[in-house]
Amino acid sequence: MQKVKKAIIPAAGLGTRFLPATKAMPKEMLPIVDKPTIQYIVDEAIASGIEDIIIVTGKGKRSIEDHFDNNLELETNLEEKGKLDLLEKVRHSSNVDIHYIRQKEPKGLGHAVWCARKFVGNEPFAVLLGDDIVQSDTPGLKQLMDQYEETHASVIGVQTVPDDETHRYGIIKPATKTGRRYAVDTFVEKPAKGTAPSNLAIMGRYVLTPEIFRFLDKQETGAGGEIQLTDAIQQLNQIQRVFAYDFEGKRYDVGEKLGFITTTIEFALQNEEIRKQLLDFMADKVTEQLGPK
Ligand code: G1P
Repeated sequence: MQKVKKAIIPAAGLGTRFLPATKAMPKEMLPIVDKPTIQYIVDEAIASGIEDIIIVTGKGKRSIEDHFDNNLELETNLEEKGKLDLLEKVRHSSNVDIHYIRQKEPKGLGHAVWCARKFVGNEPFAVLLGDDIVQSDTPGLKQLMDQYEETHASVIGVQTVPDDETHRYGIIKPATKTGRRYAVDTFVEKPAKGTAPSNLAIMGRYVLTPEIFRFLDKQETGAGGEIQLTDAIQQLNQIQRVFAYDFEGKRYDVGEKLGFITTTIEFALQNEEIRKQLLDFMADKVTEQLGPK
């Protein structure tokens, strides 16, 4: 059996939800506390044992490449000043190589993944979406890779969402359940409100076999007029088993404003340097806005 060694991180989206911040800056570079969102994703891939990452970028995404490059001038400066903790933060792991390819037209997630087909070749591979940050004891992607090793089949990460949110996600119709793993009857992208076959939503982590490209090659459009990865997975499930895995851990949605802000607060509260002052500030704010309890 081939091991999963490569990962695709699509990062070509226009970031319209964060305009004007994303007019001249990629949304993937927006920081949660002090780290760009895309670095959380890259760190998860590395922690899962991925050896090669390809980031699918688009126009105006150059700063992502700069971010994952070495910055010798900065490193020398920090070293000379003895700021070793910061030096540690700006140096990148040498356990992974990061490659880049451009998606030349915004045709959807399925198309972004298809752009990386030559990089993937004939191997199983991972996909991690930048809008979903996962915190867990075992990295989210690693949990799926472990399932792949057991099943030799594609595995899609899912978690339960409330009824009023199912229309925002890819949703599965489960068939049978073994532990946290589901055999899947159907995958459907963004079902209309009230029509979702379950509350199990795809959460931006995938391990896929290379046969997925047979279906992405067709370039068929689906929900929102885009080429959808979920539709290709649905077709793959007709010729090979595709499992869904309800992974452990907390997933943060940083792809929209409220999620981005609440994630920032939660991560800031995990940061000992600022936790206490932030809590005091929040307590004051709550009293100011809502009155004393
Ligand atoms: C994408 C996928 C969807 C998935 C979601 C998770 O949608 O198409 O299946 O549930 O990511 O965040 P997007 O949020 O990019 O519209």
